[in-house]
Amino acid sequence: MSTDSRLESLMARERATFADRHPGSRAAYQRSDHLFGRVPMTWMNKTAGDFPIYLATARGNRIVDVDGNEFVDFALGDTGAMAGHSPAPVVAAVTERVQRGLATMMPTEDAAVAGAELARRFGLPAWSFALTATDANRWAIRLLRAVTGRPKILVNSYCYHGSVDESLIVVGPDGRGASREGNVGAPVDVTLTSRVAEFNDLEGLERELAHGDVAAVLMEPALTNIGIVLPDDGYLAGVRELTRRHGTYLINDETHTFSAGPGGATAFWGLEPDVLTIGKAIGGGVPVGAYGLSAELADALSGRGDLDLVDMGGVGGTLAGNPVSMAATRATLQEVLTDAAFATMIETASAFADGLIRIIEGYGLPWSVSRLGARVEYRFASPAPRNGTESAANANAELEDFLHLYLANRGVLLTPFHNMALMCPQTSLADVARHHEIFDTALKELT
Ligand SMILES: Cc1ncc(COP(=O)(O)O)c(C=O)c1O
Repeated sequence: MSTDSRLESLMARERATFADRHPGSRAAYQRSDHLFGRVPMTWMNKTAGDFPIYLATARGNRIVDVDGNEFVDFALGDTGAMAGHSPAPVVAAVTERVQRGLATMMPTEDAAVAGAELARRFGLPAWSFALTATDANRWAIRLLRAVTGRPKILVNSYCYHGSVDESLIVVGPDGRGASREGNVGAPVDVTLTSRVAEFNDLEGLERELAHGDVAAVLMEPALTNIGIVLPDDGYLAGVRELTRRHGTYLINDETHTFSAGPGGATAFWGLEPDVLTIGKAIGGGVPVGAYGLSAELADALSGRGDLDLVDMGGVGGTLAGNPVSMAATRATLQEVLTDAAFATMIETASAFADGLIRIIEGYGLPWSVSRLGARVEYRFASPAPRNGTESAANANAELEDFLHLYLANRGVLLTPFHNMALMCPQTSLADVARHHEIFDTALKELT
C-alpha cells in the first residue's frame, strides 16, 4: 500500500474512533444552530475531527472534555495558557477582584505593578494595556506612524500578528509584496499600507527600507506561526542596525516568543526593540494585551498635543486595562511565570525536542525539530526552513490532521495549528514520554 492510501485508510479509522469517543461534543455542536459556523469564533472549526471537542474542565496541563475524556494538553490555548490552565494565584487574584467591581473606568494599582514587572523583564519603561495582542499591535503601529509621519509597516512573509490589516502581506512569486491568500475584506490593497521581506533576509529588508516610507518593522524575533523559524546568526543584529540606519522603529511581537524565557526572546538574545507587544500568556488565561515603549518614544508621544490619545483618536478600548485583566497579569507575572517556572518548562521542552529527534531519526524521516525555550515544533522538511515561504511550502495538512487526531484519540492534544507543543510549569517528563510513545506508534503505523 502507498503511504498516501495508508494515510487515507488510517485517517478514516481515526475519524470513526474520534466520533465514538465524543458523542457529547458532537451533540453540543449539533445544538449550536445560532452560532455562525456552530462555534463561538469561526477558528474553533480548525479541528482534525469532524467537530470540536467541548471543554468541561481544565487545570494545569490537563483537560477533561464533556464526555469525560482526559487529555494531556500541549496546545495550552495556543500560548494563552502557557502558565497552565487556571493557575491558583491567578484564580485567587481574579476571584478576589471580581467581587469588588469590574468596569468602573478607574485604574487599579495592579496595573502599575504589572507595568513595572514588564519593564524589568523586557527593558522598556512605559507600558499600556489592551485586551488582545492584536490590539496591542494595532495601537503600536498607529503610534509609530504618528511619530514618524511615514505611512507603511513592514512585516515578514507568513508572519502572524493577529488580525492586523497591515500584516496580511506575503512575498509573492515575483518577489513583490502581495495580499496573503484568504485575506478577508481588506480595507485597501495591502501593498498601499505595507512592505514585506522574508525572515532571515537582510538584503530584502534593506531594499524595502530604502524607500524611506516605513514607520516600523513589526516582527517576531523567531517566526512561530508558520512553524518555528529561528533567526540565523547575526540576523537580528542586522535588523536592528538597518532599522536604525533607515529611521524605522522596531517592534518585537513577543506574544509567542515569550516562550524563550522570563524576558522573552528580547532578553534571551539581548535585543533592543523600540516597542514590544505581547498578550495571551501574561494574563494567565484572562484576556490582556500590552505594549511597551522606549523612553524616547514615550516622550515624543506625550509632547504631541495634536494626537488624541484619550478619546477617539484610534488608540484605546473601553475595557482595556480593566481590573480583572490587571489582577490576572500581576499574579501571572509575579507568582506563576517566574524565572524558576521558565527553567522547569525549558528543561521539559529540551527533553521533548531530544526525544522527538530520536524518534524521527529512527524512521529516517526528512523532518526537522526546532525549539524556542518552552516551545517545540517539527516540520516536514530537513534542514529546518529558514523563512516563512519555505516553511509554508512544507506544510502537509493531511499528515498534520492525522497526527493530531491520532494523538487526541489517545489522550494528547497538540495545537490545532501546525505541530507545536508547548510546556507549562506542570508539564512533566512522564507527559513528554506519553506523547512520544503515541507519536512513535503513529509513525510505525504510517511508515
Ligand atoms: C505573534 C502573535 N502576535 C499576535 C497575536 C494575536 O493574538 P490575539 O489573537 O490574542 O489578539 C498572535 C496570535 O496567535 C500571535 O501569534
